[in-house]
Amino acid sequence: MRVVIAKDYEDMSQRAARIVAGQIYLKPNSVLGLATGSTPISMYKDLIRVHKEVGLDFSEVITFNLDEYLGLPISDEQSYYYYMFQNFFNHVNIKKENIYIPNGIMDDVELECKNYDDKIQKKGGIDLQVLGIGTNGHIGFNEPDIKFEATTHKVKLDDETINANARFFSTIEEVPRFAISMGIKTIMHAKKIILLASGENKAEVIFRALFEGITPEVPASILQLHQDVTVIVEENAAQLLKPKLYHS
Ligand code: PGA
Repeated sequence: MRVVIAKDYEDMSQRAARIVAGQIYLKPNSVLGLATGSTPISMYKDLIRVHKEVGLDFSEVITFNLDEYLGLPISDEQSYYYYMFQNFFNHVNIKKENIYIPNGIMDDVELECKNYDDKIQKKGGIDLQVLGIGTNGHIGFNEPDIKFEATTHKVKLDDETINANARFFSTIEEVPRFAISMGIKTIMHAKKIILLASGENKAEVIFRALFEGITPEVPASILQLHQDVTVIVEENAAQLLKPKLYHS
């Protein structure tokens, strides 16, 4: 596991964008695993800039998003489908048929989950997975006490996640209670992973994920067992990490 401390949010985002861009230059038909939330917004902006300024080509890139709320149609501004098109896909030359996001309004959720994993496998697996981290240690919507062996599945959102995500909705009651998420096993199969963390409210959890025991209570801690993880932590989120990094 490599840990990089970025001097601010923009620096974290640029470093992440460089890794994603490098992946695409090396393998134009890369399969990317993508995240939503506040954390990767500027990384997407940087990638759009690199596309516009130096022609980073997304025409063969394939993407799989980590998760989607259950019950929100794709037209809903809070759906992750909407987020991805608004913040990224509408601004680069990716082909729509190469974009995969779990469908949150399928009747047969189990089948949707199984098909999602099958599609990832058929495309050769994820080359590079981008992750954020929840204040409760979740990656994707794999909430504390998740089974590490889970593949894509339906999840019940943790109260902490509902509270954290309420900022995007008019009222907390509107936050969906369930979602579809790639499982830990799906994520761990990615060949490379970058984990991003920004803000003081992530300091404790990123410390626990990186330096304490591997436990389902902190789902991100499983990443300690992955062979190729780069963690890019913005200065405020890194405040508890520094003594460990500089004295080990
Ligand atoms: P955030 O969410 O980027 O909005 O902080 C991260 C997450 O919940 O995984």
